Amino acid sequence: MKGIILAGGSGTRLHPVTKAVSKQLLPIYDKPMIYYPLSTLMLAGIREILLITTPHDQASFQRLLGDGSSLGIEISYVIQESPNGLAYALILGEEFLAGDKCVLILGDNLFYGSGLGTQLQRNYDVDGALIFAYQVEDPTAYGVVEFDDDGRVLSLEEKPEAPKSHFAVPGIYFYDEEAPQLARTLTPSQRGELEITALNNAYLERGSLRVEKLPRSTTWLDTGTHESLYEASGLIRTLQHRSGLRIGDVTQIARDAGWITA
Ligand code: G1P
Repeated sequence: MKGIILAGGSGTRLHPVTKAVSKQLLPIYDKPMIYYPLSTLMLAGIREILLITTPHDQASFQRLLGDGSSLGIEISYVIQESPNGLAYALILGEEFLAGDKCVLILGDNLFYGSGLGTQLQRNYDVDGALIFAYQVEDPTAYGVVEFDDDGRVLSLEEKPEAPKSHFAVPGIYFYDEEAPQLARTLTPSQRGELEITALNNAYLERGSLRVEKLPRSTTWLDTGTHESLYEASGLIRTLQHRSGLRIGDVTQIARDAGWITA
């Protein structure tokens, strides 16, 4: 199982800050944003990771993370020339994946909760695609999944104006080896992007999409706006102060896993 972190995009909702700095390098309290999705992959036991960035931000990420060896992992880099959609990450990652299955995680998604790593690790041998559902008050900014009474998936829609449920799709996706090929068959949406929801719908149509609800004990935040960035910083600060434990500390995770020594 390999991991892909998508840290491209223009971060327009965070202008003017992101005119100068990559969104995924902005601090969430005391660490760069990218540490949080990276730590999620590491907790899932994934050590081969591809980081997709814009052309001008790649050097900054390389300064921060290098080739990953200081964390006992392997990080490779690829450039996304223009923001042509999340599903395009699978096409950009095709060579890196070399026929392996993967977890794609968005660089601005933060997950926190006990047992999360184990829950993710259970899905290493995914057949088709596995995505998650998480209840939110206002799902209009997300992919939205609708279930029937038996918990089967009825529909998946990207940023619907009238959502059919309160279940948003968080930015972490498990795909089998067919994802890059399937991504190539998608037609761009009205905004000219290969939508991740279109890829998930392609798996749904084939009858090979599984949706798992994330437990309430898991916290999911996306940090793409000033408001959510501020909220996420506050949450991490509160949790760390209260417990004395650190969240998203990639060095500590690597040490605990025995991938590096003190
Ligand atoms: C993207 C996806 C959306 C998903 C969300 C999670 O939206 O298109 O389906 O629910 O990430 O953060 P974005 O926030 O990039 O517009």
